[in-house]
Amino acid sequence: MKILEDKIFRTISEEAEKAGTRAFVIGGFVRDYFLQRPCNDIDIVVEGSGIGLAEKVAEVMKTRVSVFRNFGTAMIRKNGIEIEFVGARKESYRRESRKPIVENGTLEDDQNRRDFTINAMAFSLQKENYGCLIDPFGGIKDLQKGIIRTPLDPDTTYSDDPLRMIRAIRFATQLGFSILEESFDAIIRNRERISILSKERITDELHKIIMSGHPSTGFELLDKAGLLEMIMPQLTNLKGVETMEGKGHKDNFSHSLKVLDNLAEKSDNLWLRWAALLHDIGKPATKKFEPGTGWTFHSHDYVGSKMIPALFKQLRLPANEKMKYVQKLVQLHLRPISLVQEEVTDSAIRRLLFDAGNDIDDLMLLCEADITSKNESIVRKHRKNFALVREKLITVEEKDRIRNFNPPVTGEMIMQTFDIQPGPAIGKIKEIIKNSILDGIIPNEYEAAYSMMLELGKEMGLEKKATCITQLPND
Ligand code: CTP
Repeated sequence: MKILEDKIFRTISEEAEKAGTRAFVIGGFVRDYFLQRPCNDIDIVVEGSGIGLAEKVAEVMKTRVSVFRNFGTAMIRKNGIEIEFVGARKESYRRESRKPIVENGTLEDDQNRRDFTINAMAFSLQKENYGCLIDPFGGIKDLQKGIIRTPLDPDTTYSDDPLRMIRAIRFATQLGFSILEESFDAIIRNRERISILSKERITDELHKIIMSGHPSTGFELLDKAGLLEMIMPQLTNLKGVETMEGKGHKDNFSHSLKVLDNLAEKSDNLWLRWAALLHDIGKPATKKFEPGTGWTFHSHDYVGSKMIPALFKQLRLPANEKMKYVQKLVQLHLRPISLVQEEVTDSAIRRLLFDAGNDIDDLMLLCEADITSKNESIVRKHRKNFALVREKLITVEEKDRIRNFNPPVTGEMIMQTFDIQPGPAIGKIKEIIKNSILDGIIPNEYEAAYSMMLELGKEMGLEKKATCITQLPND
């Protein structure tokens, strides 16, 4: 076990021996070691006081230790690695638990109360069998076979901490494993129990599912277990296909998941992935059958973006610029597609650049991920059109610099020039100048905008009182 040659493990081993206790590396670190995944969190379980051993180790390593007495844990940070010490427990283990812990367990007790066999393996740090794997539930076999299984009866393990039902699905998604059938049946049986969990803990797991390589797997499993409708009914409402007059529409749930998977291949941006998942949530509320036309979802982009704040609140996601970003992308997700259907004018491109600003590249990624047709020639056509839009975006941006648009004349300049107080005339002039630039009537330049301002002022009966000299840079 090469990694255990590391000085830190040797030190823990020596200090445990001196204290007359036994210490083990356990949990995610052991699992990730065998999976060859990087892991910077090391959990050490001690048959005795975790805090006591951590303090001794910190002393030898000349490093600081953070003690969380209420949790009975202590943490040492060294070279970007976090080492958490905890006393072996008879009770269920979970890092975030606020319950006072019972520390007087053995390694075996502790392993019994962990979530999955693959997370219950330990490496010994005792001199006599240093580095030996202690794997009472066949975690290694399950790792090889790709199985998520609870060490005890799943009903017991899940009722110890219902979040484990979602963790099972998260690990299955991240690792591409399958959940043992009886374990999955227990999730279905116990699903109502997630109501006692804090929303933050659930959302943390959702983030991890979304950030995995193939996130649809997680959402499909959450749905199959009956958990998704409790966590995010807005998504399960997208399910189903209706047919009228022989016309159907696509299943918007599986479509949304496909878009998320497509996007996951291109970007690791968590919030862009959320936008992909949520881009069509306005569809159920806007769905209509129009005889002769078929199914329509008019304004689902707008309605969807309006649903985001409540959904973020419900999931305890932040109500900040991240939320606004997701809202913006949901609201704009049809714009590039509508461009490729019409003839691409410079004016339409400028408007898109203005509305999307610096998020234009993310919006284009979302729109490309939104092409989920099974018809290869349609996909090819859309891709070709998008390539055209991308080219146009570059040429128009080089020419007109709309992406970080600052109006070449400001409200301040208008007030100075005509010697007027703040009022509606200023907004009106600014708006007309902005639209004229976006429509290509005048270039995005100070001189042109300034003369237009004078003309507009004249039309409104305003007189030029001063020569405005405060020109703003436009980038
Ligand atoms: N654990 C548990 N029950 C929980 C949470 C955690 O039994 N509800 C145990 C598992 O043994 C797990 C270890 O605590 O391996 C560490 O938990 P955590 O850091 O949350 O997860 P990791 O397994 O390390 O995985 P990740 O870092 O991907 O979350």
